[in-house]
Amino acid sequence: MKVYNDISLLPYNSFGIEAKAHCLVVCESISDVINIARPIADGHHLVLGGGSNMLFLSDFKGVVVHSKVKAIEVVEETRNEVVVRVGSGVVWDDFVGEMVSRGLYGAENLSAIPGTVGASPVQNIGAYGAEAGQIIDAVYGYFIGSAKAFCLRGKDCQFGYRSSIFKTSEEYRNNVIITAVDYRLRKEGVLNLNYGTVRQKTEELGGESLENVRRAIVEIRASKLPDYHVMGNAGSFFKNPEMSAEVANDIRKEYPDMPSYDLGNGDVKIPAAWLIEQCGWKGRSLGRAAVHKNQPLVLVNKGGATGQEVIELAEAISADVSEKFEIKLEKEVCIIP
Ligand code: EPU
Repeated sequence: MKVYNDISLLPYNSFGIEAKAHCLVVCESISDVINIARPIADGHHLVLGGGSNMLFLSDFKGVVVHSKVKAIEVVEETRNEVVVRVGSGVVWDDFVGEMVSRGLYGAENLSAIPGTVGASPVQNIGAYGAEAGQIIDAVYGYFIGSAKAFCLRGKDCQFGYRSSIFKTSEEYRNNVIITAVDYRLRKEGVLNLNYGTVRQKTEELGGESLENVRRAIVEIRASKLPDYHVMGNAGSFFKNPEMSAEVANDIRKEYPDMPSYDLGNGDVKIPAAWLIEQCGWKGRSLGRAAVHKNQPLVLVNKGGATGQEVIELAEAISADVSEKFEIKLEKEVCIIP
């Protein structure tokens, strides 16, 4: 275990916000996790993966726990499937790359998402028609305070759109340290090429194969989303709002071009990027924070922005969307006050 006091969190948040932690504990093994799980219960604490979905508004006056528990092992294999156990500190895209190179299907559409394996069930990360919850078989970790172990089956994680039991339940929220996740992958899979230009890009790269889907997704993401190493960001800042088809149709009377995706249950999802663009925010700045020029759902740090500057921009956008469309945007990024 490594312990750092009064340390900058700049390398631990993709927004590139200069916030400090009173204490940072880096766990390199499961026994480190067990040892830290009990004492940190008495104070203010935060479990941080890659910090790719966080916005720090100020210095963190407590203990930040970061897992570097790393390992990838096959724990079950049948004729059609393989279950792989992955340490929470493994970089998400290293895991996806490894699965694709082993010829295993299920993770490829989630290529190039920043962050770590431990965060994948919390946020139920998703992109290009896939979500982590579809391949998560089990999540392992320890409760903060009791240091008691837990194992939750995927079906009990209450996965929803960028949501899970780790975000919504009192018992689990900011109260566990995840140490490993089991993913169930297929040996013979069907590629999921239906989102946007994925099929077209895969064809351009040489046709349907796991490798080509991965390359296609990497290219599509790179063409739309800013690289946080170059310009700090946390991916989509807001969720795409969901509403009943009737409410959407009412709005469409005034805005006939409003796109929507049918969720199949009478509800639709509206692209927040479109709402933000309609409010004239695409590419605009407020202080050192800005709305990305290619994907208005992504807020960026132009350099040296504080968390406060980013949140002021987010609030100005939300207020305009609410005034124009009477739609309340919900933040996707976790705000750490
Ligand atoms: N759009 C605009 N203007 C733009 C860009 C997009 O109006 O400048 C509209 C278009 O109608 C477009 C639609 O937004 O068809 C959807 O855009 P896109 O395919 O880029 O996806 P998104 O809905 O904005 C979601 C996820 C992303 C994920 C992509 C691809 C959320 C909150 N975001 O974005 O996830 O990569 O789909 O699947 O659901 C993240 O969670 O951090 C993230 C980046």
